[in-house]
Amino acid sequence: MTFLDLEDSVSPNEKVAARQKVIAAIRDQRWDDRVLCVRVNAWDTEWTYGDVIEVVGNAGPRLDEIMLPKVQTAAEVVALDLLLTQVEKNAGLPIGHIGIEAQIETARGLINVDDICAASPRLETIIFGPADFAASIEMPVLTGGVAIPEYPGDHFNYVFSRILMAGRANGLQVIDGPFLLVRELDALREFAQRTRVLGYDGKWALTPDQAGVLNEVYSPTQEQFDKAWDILEAYRAATEDNHTGAVMFGDEMIDEASRKMATKFVTRGERAGFKRS
Ligand code: GLV
Ligand code: MG
Repeated sequence: MTFLDLEDSVSPNEKVAARQKVIAAIRDQRWDDRVLCVRVNAWDTEWTYGDVIEVVGNAGPRLDEIMLPKVQTAAEVVALDLLLTQVEKNAGLPIGHIGIEAQIETARGLINVDDICAASPRLETIIFGPADFAASIEMPVLTGGVAIPEYPGDHFNYVFSRILMAGRANGLQVIDGPFLLVRELDALREFAQRTRVLGYDGKWALTPDQAGVLNEVYSPTQEQFDKAWDILEAYRAATEDNHTGAVMFGDEMIDEASRKMATKFVTRGERAGFKRS
């Protein structure tokens, strides 16, 4: 997925002009088969409706999603959904063509994350925004989304888990936000393990180098992919050929839950282009 930004990376006096640049980029550049998204400004600014009407109204069908930042309540998602429906009608796009990605980056957004994740069938992805979140909760840091050596543990573990539960309970993709130290790839690799191990689907990349690291971190290893296939095969043989449920796989017991875990690895691995070795 690639997103083009109209929000915090664009200065206020360029906000309106940036819309045309984003539309031109969507229409004129080659995006191949990647999911294409535009981040609009948050509802507490004066730009959100104009961003949506201009960009969705003129970008054509190649645009797949709108990202809504700083979402605080489910009503903000509903408002975007309703606006999108009108803009799609006027632009001749199928109703529901545009999906929504929502960023959780404030204390209120986190408190309301369950309702936010259930607010619209257009929702595809919930994203944590560590920089704005650190500012919102008044965490005494100047760089959001990196390790804090003085803290004995993972200072965002609760937040990561909270968002993950709400996202999974509603069938959404769950994505971690940016790592701002763009030259520190080893530190990125280490930090990204926190959400990877919990079960996040991915993390924002700010540079092509970051994308390389993150594609590795959030994909299974060949060894995991092969083991997942072996588990599926052993379990299928046990249940279908021998009519047993739980069965030994080497030194471990596997059962229906093991099949579910293994299926996730196979799906992710195939998406990353793995073949069984
Ligand atoms: C991303 O938008 C962030 O605030 O971290
Ligand atoms: Mg932000």
